[in-house]
Amino acid sequence: MTVYPITLTESKFMHKDLLKYPFEERGLQFGDGIYEVIRIYQGSYYLFEEHVDRLFRSADAIKLELPYTKQEMKDLLLELLTKNDMKTDGKLYIQATRGSAPRDHAFPVGVKSNIYAYLNDLPRNLDHLTNGVKTITQRDVRWENCFIKSLNLLPNVLAKQEAKENGCYEAILHREGKVTECSSSNVYLVKDGKVYTHPTKNNILHGCVRMAVERFTTDLNIPLIEEAFTLDDISSADEMFLTSSTSEVLSVVQVDKTTIGNGRPGNITKQLLAAYEKDANIKNPIQA
Ligand SMILES: Cc1ncc(COP(=O)(O)O)c(C=O)c1O
Repeated sequence: MTVYPITLTESKFMHKDLLKYPFEERGLQFGDGIYEVIRIYQGSYYLFEEHVDRLFRSADAIKLELPYTKQEMKDLLLELLTKNDMKTDGKLYIQATRGSAPRDHAFPVGVKSNIYAYLNDLPRNLDHLTNGVKTITQRDVRWENCFIKSLNLLPNVLAKQEAKENGCYEAILHREGKVTECSSSNVYLVKDGKVYTHPTKNNILHGCVRMAVERFTTDLNIPLIEEAFTLDDISSADEMFLTSSTSEVLSVVQVDKTTIGNGRPGNITKQLLAAYEKDANIKNPIQA
């Protein structure tokens, strides 16, 4: 597949190898920017409106002016799919920074945002979705504004690496014992038929798949309680799962040394994955 990242600042589509930025670029030097990852199934974006809305919310929150209206942005991203003749499962990455300027902490004056976006193939991880994943717990040492999808991902990167070095897929983060989310996903605990997850406050990302899960639980008559669960609650959980655009609705079968439930994806997690597969119009669903 030929990938054409687009420099949206100039509304141009170009081959990715032609994309060049000076090293005095605010995303590179300060992490002064925002991003989105949008899932693609069979060549179509999933939860497109939600992601574009969140991109604009993140931009507003860091006082970054995007040079497009939402509609123009959507048109460009849709055109990117066509230009790439995208037909497979994949993902879009888009980032917007405060532009290229001599290094100085304060915002540069009269400088346009640098924006680019590109597509990758991303097959669904059928092994993970069928069998679930292992996780570790870590202290959440991030700042208070995690609702902004900012380029500053160092604590998330370190937490994910720690998980990987322990043979795990994700790190479950907590503040003083209260679970917030994971390094790159939202997390949920199921107990007595109810789903618990941290409320959408400023200290977690408001996941687009989480928004979809809210709809699914309503449709399925499963109570969703927006209340942080604690590390202590984990040992008596019936099920746990996490959600993100790349992970979908993914069962957590182990947290540190604790096996969750019987060590297999639980019934409510399976129902929510089935609802996800239906909503995303996935061909050959796992949970038929
Ligand atoms: C920290 C964090 N929380 C939650 C999510 C899930 O967000 P979404 O469902 O929009 O992919 C992500 C996704 O990358 C994330 O990085």
